[in-house]
Amino acid sequence: MPDAMEPAPSVLDEILAGLSAPQKTLPAKLFYDEAGCALFNRITLLPEYYVTRAEMALLDRHAPEIAAHAPPGAALVEYGASDEAKGVALLDAGRRPFAAYVPVDIAEPALLAIAGRMRGSHPALAVVPVAADFLQPLALPPAVAGLPPFGFFPGSTIGNFRPPMVRRFLRTVRATLSGVEAPGFVVGTDLRKDPSRLLPAYDDGAGITAAFNRNILLHVNRIADGDFDPDAFAHRAVWNAHEGRIEMHLESRTAQAVRVAGRTVRFRAGESIHTEDSYKHTPDGFRALAAEAGWRSGGFWRDPDGLFGMHLLRG
Ligand code: AVI
Repeated sequence: MPDAMEPAPSVLDEILAGLSAPQKTLPAKLFYDEAGCALFNRITLLPEYYVTRAEMALLDRHAPEIAAHAPPGAALVEYGASDEAKGVALLDAGRRPFAAYVPVDIAEPALLAIAGRMRGSHPALAVVPVAADFLQPLALPPAVAGLPPFGFFPGSTIGNFRPPMVRRFLRTVRATLSGVEAPGFVVGTDLRKDPSRLLPAYDDGAGITAAFNRNILLHVNRIADGDFDPDAFAHRAVWNAHEGRIEMHLESRTAQAVRVAGRTVRFRAGESIHTEDSYKHTPDGFRALAAEAGWRSGGFWRDPDGLFGMHLLRG
């Protein structure tokens, strides 16, 4: 158990620790600088990347049923809200209307843009953005103190967390949403499927995912005074059947030395940096993980093609 007063490691410490490990890693949060966010938006439109379309198809079909599980006059608390499209699908589907929308994300500019658009499109709704790291314990803002919260975490971002982090996050959310009887939390997960469908989604023909993966090196160069040459690394997407996850790696094309934060990091030819995990949970596997964090299953929906799932968890 870390000491409560122990300072969180700085991002430089995280980068250096990751690049010093036997299997080199970089923190996946470094994907999402401005260029990385733009590349991710392009990924969501790729023919091979079915994830976003499948989730929207699920919401098109099932949002009214899902929203019916929210208490009347609830505050919809959306974790990791980079835009409002999925939140709006639930907000507009409820017959017992939501009273407030609380998008939570670390990226303040995106939140302000969401709030601006939502105040125009949904004038009767209280829109209360919260700029915070949603992995940390969160206090809901006083403006929604009297409203029953209903949690929402779309996008399959939970698939980017390893199981211990999923459990920690689900416990943290439970603490935030407690205070109502049987709190509800709706979580989107990409479903386990044949690797022949998964692999192209993470290694597309146009090379956008490869550019997204390599962009992490440019980000490291900028924040850690590095001299990575992104073209000296090949993008690799690998299905790890044992762990049930797609892994992204950057594989060094040659033996090389790179300077990062005043240190030299050496690579053998073919050695990789593991940059991302994307777990593909089975419905039962995810329910079991959620149960370990104190949640029980309250419902489950799939898109018409059976690619993507949405769980309702009850506290
Ligand atoms: C954000 N997250 C759900 C994406 C995923 O599918 O794991 C990130 C991503 N990485 C490569 N393509 C998309």
